[in-house]
Amino acid sequence: MAVVNGQVSLDHLTTMEDLTNDEVLALIQRGLAFKQGQVEITSRQDKFVSNLFFESSTRTHKSFEVAERKLGMQVIDFDSSKSSVNKGETLYDTILTMSALGVDVCVVRHFEEDYYKPLIDSSTITASIVNGGDGSGQHPSQCLLDLMTIYEEFGHFDGLKIAIAGDITHSRVAKSNMQVLKRLGAQLYFAGPEEWYDSKFNLYGKHVSIDEVVDTVDALMLLRVQHERHDGAGTFSKETYNRLHGLTEERYARLGESSIIMHPAPVNRDVEIDDSLVEADKSRIVRQMENGVYVRMAILEAILAGRETL
Ligand code: CP
Repeated sequence: MAVVNGQVSLDHLTTMEDLTNDEVLALIQRGLAFKQGQVEITSRQDKFVSNLFFESSTRTHKSFEVAERKLGMQVIDFDSSKSSVNKGETLYDTILTMSALGVDVCVVRHFEEDYYKPLIDSSTITASIVNGGDGSGQHPSQCLLDLMTIYEEFGHFDGLKIAIAGDITHSRVAKSNMQVLKRLGAQLYFAGPEEWYDSKFNLYGKHVSIDEVVDTVDALMLLRVQHERHDGAGTFSKETYNRLHGLTEERYARLGESSIIMHPAPVNRDVEIDDSLVEADKSRIVRQMENGVYVRMAILEAILAGRETL
């Protein structure tokens, strides 16, 4: 892995810990260059990519596909419900098969945390792995699009006051973001229910109530309540969660003039955020989705560059 003349080369992208600060900043710059139409794209028709999603997705799956098609890659359809996964095929064997077929890049979302470790350690799997989300582990491409959105707004990270609010324990988005934002110099706060917070996150920031930070944050990153990952701890009615921990119109009115709000989506409207605020002036939620395409183009380009040096 390296940055040479602004070009990042990656073997795989599985966790934000894989990336140095220089690589993070170079990927953001490249995403911005793609967005601004400053990159002359050489079609990668000879490169095959498959998106293997074993958990539901709208944004990650489809924005990777748009990014792949914009780069001219050949996208190999994969639907786990119609594949030999139904006959007991393991994830390892699915990716081994894709490698044998000549697929260069597998974008994988899987419910198992760290699913990628045996894949990248294998000497027979030749496809590069891009993690599209592993359980409650990591979501590096979401993190990079979040960082691109913050950078586009403020032009830096150093000294920014950023609050990540909501279901921290179950959020792979929070895990990826906390690791990188801290080392990029942001001052981090966590908000949300104590039941969905772990003291190990104190390494990155301080746990406060949303009301303690809402007046002073530069960016308020809301998280989806991950009902599908809950084991009974911390059950709230929608109204109670919204009143205690959500971004209500009253709290929105207290945000600073230049503050922004973010959410990886899908959004539980009227839970994490009032319905009326999803597309409010300070909301960058739609821009995050848009930026996802461009930063994923930068990620795929970096992976293809890494494969050229193999
Ligand atoms: N933000 C995000 O990962 O959305 P999807 O689950 O729709 O991909």
